[in-house]
Amino acid sequence: MSSPALFDFFLPCPRGLEAALAAELAEIGARHTGAAQFEAGAQVPGGVHFRGNWKAGMAANLHSRIASRVLLKIAHRPYRNEQDVYALALEQRWEQWFSANETIRIDLTAIKSPLKSLEFATLRVKDAVCDRLREVSGARPSVDTAQPDVRIFAFLTATDCTLYLDTSGEPLFKRGWRLDKGAAPLRENLAAGILRLTGWTADTPLYDPMCGSGTFLAEAAQAALNIAPGVDRRFGFEKLKQYDITAWQALKVEAMDAKRKALASRADLAIFGSDISGDMLEKARANFERAGLPRIQIKQVDARAMTPPSAAPGVLVANPPYGERIEVRGRGPRGEIRETRRGENDEGFRRAHADTPDSEFFQSLGDALKQRFSGWRAFFLTSDRKLPGQLRLRESAKTPLFNGALECRLFRFDLVTGSVKQRPAGDTPAA
Ligand SMILES: C[S@@+](CC[C@H](N)C(=O)[O-])C[C@H]1O[C@@H](n2cnc3c(N)ncnc32)[C@H](O)[C@@H]1O
Repeated sequence: MSSPALFDFFLPCPRGLEAALAAELAEIGARHTGAAQFEAGAQVPGGVHFRGNWKAGMAANLHSRIASRVLLKIAHRPYRNEQDVYALALEQRWEQWFSANETIRIDLTAIKSPLKSLEFATLRVKDAVCDRLREVSGARPSVDTAQPDVRIFAFLTATDCTLYLDTSGEPLFKRGWRLDKGAAPLRENLAAGILRLTGWTADTPLYDPMCGSGTFLAEAAQAALNIAPGVDRRFGFEKLKQYDITAWQALKVEAMDAKRKALASRADLAIFGSDISGDMLEKARANFERAGLPRIQIKQVDARAMTPPSAAPGVLVANPPYGERIEVRGRGPRGEIRETRRGENDEGFRRAHADTPDSEFFQSLGDALKQRFSGWRAFFLTSDRKLPGQLRLRESAKTPLFNGALECRLFRFDLVTGSVKQRPAGDTPAA
């Protein structure tokens, strides 16, 4: 059943990646659904709207590396109280989309809503959906917050209520390959968005010298090999009555063929990583194996002793350790690998190295960049505004990005031969 109707979709994404997501969506629309079935919509903080047919919604789920979800807009109206929210949800023809046999979950988010209890408002949406289905079918769906068949999102502003049906299910950054994570892994869609912001293309070397569980590297390899990020997972739309299995199978078979071809080709990937922690490298290898990406080259190196992994310059990208979530390791003499091994006492490690501040690590990292990486473009994601000062480098750009609720900057440094802009110690920190 191929529906000619166009639907309004909203795709949330990490804040700061809206323009990157809009550009990605335009490409997905052009490549997989045909321009007539895809109309770009507004970019708003935290997401992008678009209008498209059902196939466009499925293609966005399968191919977007940057979106967190693909939400289908069901209703939108001004409200003043919980009763207005209930009435709006009760009027919707939920029975068109799912039956009372499906389990449901309601999530509600609000910005400047006048309502006193958002929990109560969430309950009212749930009551309305259940009441509607009981009226039309005689049965109420059950709630399952852990593994619902169907998710409904309500979004309240100061004046308006919007109801969405989720077509993704599990958030899209869950690609299905990353089971092994470190203490502070990066979400896959944030990593993919950052790669897009760097302007990196597959014909250029890519290097993450603090690769951890390998998120940047796996996302880059999948993009380089044209492997759809959702090819190995299931989606919420598969549980909906409007599920267009024929159109979905065509999209999925195309994506599976592309993956098979990519994995059969023996072309080298110029994608490299290193980390000081052998444990993290083991996790990264296990992740690459699961994702079918064994050709990514990684090795154990203290970032202060890093050297370019390729003859041609390329893009260096990393989210260095910062703050309480994870500490800089290897604060011993430069180049010497000092790490906490499995079972070793982390606290002891911390005390042993507490005399060498993080600023020494970042200064040495800056020296390595200046001395050995001329011609490269380096990008660091961090919530530490002082990073350029600590590296003694002047950034050529800084882009605000959110890693979950954490406000970060993506700093760019152009390491141009002989003209690396150095910043004196104590220079004003970047805003
Ligand atoms: C914030 S995590 C990076 C997470 C990674 N992007 C991921 O997705 O898993 C920082 C990484 O820096 C590594 N690290 C800490 N000190 C290091 C050093 N001196 N040299 C190289 N890597 C280091 C840690 O082992 C950790 O994996």
